[in-house]
Amino acid sequence: MKPGDDPDPSRLVLGIETSCDETAAAVVERGVRVRSSVVATQHELHQEYGGVVPEIASRAHLERILPVVRAAVTEAGITLRDVDAVAVGHRPGLIGALLVGTSAAKGLALALDVPLIGVDHVHAHLVAGMLDREPPPFPALGLVASGGHSSIYLVEDPVRPRLLGRTIDDAVGEAFDKVAAMLDLGHPGGPAVEKLAESGDATAFDLPVANLGRGSLDFSFSGLKTAVLYAARGHPGRVPPVLDDRRRADLAASFQAAAIKALRRNLRRAFEAHPRIRSLLVGGGVTANGPIRAMLESECGERDVECRLAPLRWCVDNAAMIAALGDRHLEAGKRDPLELAPAATTRTDPVPD
Ligand code: KG4
Ligand code: ZN
Repeated sequence: MKPGDDPDPSRLVLGIETSCDETAAAVVERGVRVRSSVVATQHELHQEYGGVVPEIASRAHLERILPVVRAAVTEAGITLRDVDAVAVGHRPGLIGALLVGTSAAKGLALALDVPLIGVDHVHAHLVAGMLDREPPPFPALGLVASGGHSSIYLVEDPVRPRLLGRTIDDAVGEAFDKVAAMLDLGHPGGPAVEKLAESGDATAFDLPVANLGRGSLDFSFSGLKTAVLYAARGHPGRVPPVLDDRRRADLAASFQAAAIKALRRNLRRAFEAHPRIRSLLVGGGVTANGPIRAMLESECGERDVECRLAPLRWCVDNAAMIAALGDRHLEAGKRDPLELAPAATTRTDPVPD
């Protein structure tokens, strides 16, 4: 073999994802080429509760995990015997839900006698924009905006993203979901808020955008959420406002504009603090939002930074991103023992000075 030759040019990683309310499995070749991606959502099961019910999620994962893995393997045109490693999103997430995916991954890795690799779900969102494409130029900034996270990273290498800032209370997607609930739009709320905002006036309500200190890359969305609550339902003890359809649309548009402002401000700060950045890696369900995508493209365009927005199907939770990051960990020599434990939170990386 010549130096530089790859010992395993068609390495196949099976990815498994069960951190919240999507049961997903995917097969990814060489960490880039998506051979299959199967996602079974549970939205209909949680709809009537206005949010994800952990116990219902765990039970649904249990019913769906094996058919979903089977479908991913079949769709990839392979058999389980062709799988070279099993990667699983083992943190962060709902602990009972993670337990289902982690247990399935361990069983498969043991039975197939292949490496088991635990992958951080939030870090995996950062590689969604690298699937089925050539690698982006590094160093990169990373933005994950999802139902559970709003985080900015410095990424020299996707296996070791460095956390620069994160939310100190609600995640941006959580704020979208809660605003949707206040406006009776159902769950998950993000797409419904975006749709309603299209016909609204974003300047109609003056809503707060938290600033956590000069240069801070942390976010806070709870004040914004409370301001929307008061605008929608009125202040305690006062006559509630009349919110006709036009005002509801105005409120949705004003909220979305405030959320975009918060994301843009911290992104600009991060670009200023890290002038060598060559690309922006973006992931998480909230980055499916049209106006947010337009803002990200525009911020990158102004700086000659390559914007790696994931296609919509990979913005939201999926297992292709888990398999892709798992492959990079595998290449970096990572192997996890069968004692690999799911964890509800991500271990916090040190914030650099
Ligand atoms: O990444 P994801 O699928 O799951 C988590 O890891 O949390 O993100 C789900 C979140 C939900 O809060 C959902 O309301 C939000 O992403 N979301 C959106 C849109 N589509 C999904 N938020 C705003 N606009 C959208 N179009
Ligand atoms: Zn996610």
